[in-house]
Amino acid sequence: MFKIPHIAPDRLPSVLRLMPKAELHVHIEGTLEPELIFKLAQRNHVSLPYASVEALRAAYQFSDLQSFLDLYYAGASVLLHEQDFFDMAWAYLDKAAADNVVHAEIFFDPQTHTARGVPMETLIKGLHHACQRAHQEFGLSAKLILCFLRHLSEEDAFATLEAALPFRHYFIGVGLDSSELGHPPAKFERVFARCRELGLHVVAHAGEEGPPEYIHQALDLLKAERIDHGVQAVRDPALMQRLAEERVPLTVCPLSNIKLCVFPTLAQHNLKSLLDAGLCVTVNSDDPAYFGGYVNENYVELFAALGLEPRHAYQLAFNSFEASFADAAQKKAWEHGLKAFFERLREQD
Ligand code: HPA
Ligand code: ZN
Repeated sequence: MFKIPHIAPDRLPSVLRLMPKAELHVHIEGTLEPELIFKLAQRNHVSLPYASVEALRAAYQFSDLQSFLDLYYAGASVLLHEQDFFDMAWAYLDKAAADNVVHAEIFFDPQTHTARGVPMETLIKGLHHACQRAHQEFGLSAKLILCFLRHLSEEDAFATLEAALPFRHYFIGVGLDSSELGHPPAKFERVFARCRELGLHVVAHAGEEGPPEYIHQALDLLKAERIDHGVQAVRDPALMQRLAEERVPLTVCPLSNIKLCVFPTLAQHNLKSLLDAGLCVTVNSDDPAYFGGYVNENYVELFAALGLEPRHAYQLAFNSFEASFADAAQKKAWEHGLKAFFERLREQD
């Protein structure tokens, strides 16, 4: 076991910010800041029901997932052209690089755009070119995961998959997001089976607001390799044991959970219980433009609220690499880099 050096508590926030990490749960449409929403609205002659950036930001008060999704879909309506998708993704990747994210697996919601008449090619190419440039400029590897909107039908998901297949090489996997309650993973069993046949990785949001049963379904019916959120697993001890034994990663998003009232305060978040139970937990931002912080703010605020220690920082960053869909050699290289980062802190002691 790697021995973590002593780190004075007041240095911990900067260590969290500087350590290399992967981000595995971020919706690119959720990185659209109010300033960029207004800029794109003007550029594309789209009218917004808010008078100013400040008025829009002031509306970001949510009572649950659905109250957020209503604004999130409205915000995405300004995205029309390939350049818009590039600009949105580039703004995120620039921030991610500054947060020392060395690898990002990024969700996108094609149905939000194709339903408005935006061609699949336009949105995928815009996102892809930003990912390519981030690799060239920052050495940050950025991959795309296509998410199906679960409030729509499985038939619609099949049509979306069909439309995306000419661009199969631009994304590494599929996910399932949007309104969870009333839309169990079982609804999408057949389309996920088809995705697996196509060699795509499979993840699913489950147990954010929904019951542990939805996590069971995501694992058993969709064969999800990771669970997005998954925090409701603590309500089911047998499920907790399974997640620990099979080391199924959970992509937890602390600030999101507070903004959407999944937990009343960050001090009451269950991330430490999940870690202590031996689960492969990771820290992520979800929709940072809406939830008050990018990945580093999620780490820093969570650690302060739960009194987490340097060993947790190392474990969470390690888990983020382990849980990624990168190949084994790449994971080893990142894990080596993480150890070297902590070793250098020892030398500064
Ligand atoms: N849950 C479900 N769907 C989403 C989310 C989320 O947190 N963010 C964007 N789409
Ligand atoms: Zn999410």
